[in-house]
Amino acid sequence: MNCTGRIWCGFLMGAGIILLSQCSPYAGKNLLNFFFDGVPETDTADVNLADLEETSIDSMGPTEELLALEMPSHMVHYPYEERECASCHNELSLGTMVEPQPGLCYICHEDFSTVYNYLHGPVAGGYCTSCHDPHMSESGKLLRLTGDDLCFNCHREVSVLQNEMHEGLEGMFCTDCHNPHGGEDKYIFQ
Ligand code: HEC
Ligand code: HEC
Ligand code: HEC
Ligand code: HEC
Ligand code: HEC
Repeated sequence: MNCTGRIWCGFLMGAGIILLSQCSPYAGKNLLNFFFDGVPETDTADVNLADLEETSIDSMGPTEELLALEMPSHMVHYPYEERECASCHNELSLGTMVEPQPGLCYICHEDFSTVYNYLHGPVAGGYCTSCHDPHMSESGKLLRLTGDDLCFNCHREVSVLQNEMHEGLEGMFCTDCHNPHGGEDKYIFQ
């Protein structure tokens, strides 16, 4: 944005926040709190892990027990849970990151280009958040989708299943054979 004056900048950003806050009730709330307080309130979108731990399995009926068992262990990304927003976000300019992906993620995680000979397209391109939510998710490993749906988000199911290499794979997951991040060659086998 090419702002001609600070007041206009403030006005335009304010308008942006109002627009954004209308998209999703949770995203908007987080955005406003982040902007004005730096720390978001825990609301319904947040899961308080301490509360979950305090809940005794004994006090639950069979259904709740099953749900508790299926609850993944790492729904909230550690730096988000610890309110270390500034480890990723520029606090003076919300919406911009301290570094673009994948470098942003490699500040704390191992650089996959040093691990694999060949990188999966979205990993090489720095689209980590096309598969992972940077804050939290209902699935383990912060994944946005589970199972093969994660792959079919980009690869067309019909064309993948047309390949004779994929005949008779019922009951197998894509990641039983392919590594989501990289591998020896372009077929990124596990
Ligand atoms: C590990 C890095 C990381 C941390 C830590 C982090 N964020 Fe984010 N955040 C991102 C990325 C990356 C995006 C861009 C969204 C995307 O790519 O899906 C984002 C997007 C957002 C958005 C835009 C709406 C949305 O949810 O997509 C808000 C608001 C936000 N973050 C607030 C916060 C707050 C508040 C904290 C601290 C409690 C925080 N973030 C911590 C990486 C992070
Ligand atoms: C195509 C989807 C996809 C993309 C893109 C992706 N990941 Fe992953 N990631 C996964 C899956 C699936 C797992 C779970 C692997 C498992 O459980 O064996 C995972 C697991 C992880 C883990 C947990 C440790 C591990 O290796 O199992 C980290 C950390 C991680 N990814 C970081 C990243 C970073 C950083 C990027 C971007 C450079 C990225 N991922 C891009 C799908 C993806
Ligand atoms: C400020 C440091 C930091 C940054 C930046 C960061 N992470 Fe993490 N991440 C952690 C820590 C700490 C953990 C928890 C320890 C662990 O399981 O390795 C974690 C765990 C994860 C996991 C595994 C969750 C699980 O269930 O095991 C994934 C996936 C992940 N991060 C993806 C990302 C992606 C994608 C980015 C970039 C958008 C990113 N991280 C940026 C610190 C960071
Ligand atoms: C965000 C989009 C995206 C997602 C999600 C995704 N992929 Fe990919 N995948 C790509 C791109 C882009 C390429 C590179 C295509 C190219 O270079 O022609 C690729 C390439 C591949 C290749 C190598 C094929 C070739 O001919 O180079 C395999 C195998 C693969 N992906 C498997 C998977 C699996 C398994 C999953 C799920 C864990 C997955 N992909 C999820 C975008 C994605
Ligand atoms: C039993 C192991 C196995 C499973 C499971 C598997 N693949 Fe493959 N995949 C292969 C082999 C083998 C090749 C071909 C390599 C070659 O041509 O040398 C391949 C090739 C690919 C390619 C590149 C060629 C093409 O068809 O475009 C993509 C993309 C791909 N797989 C995606 C997936 C996805 C998505 C899933 C899950 C629905 C999946 N694979 C499940 C073994 C597997």
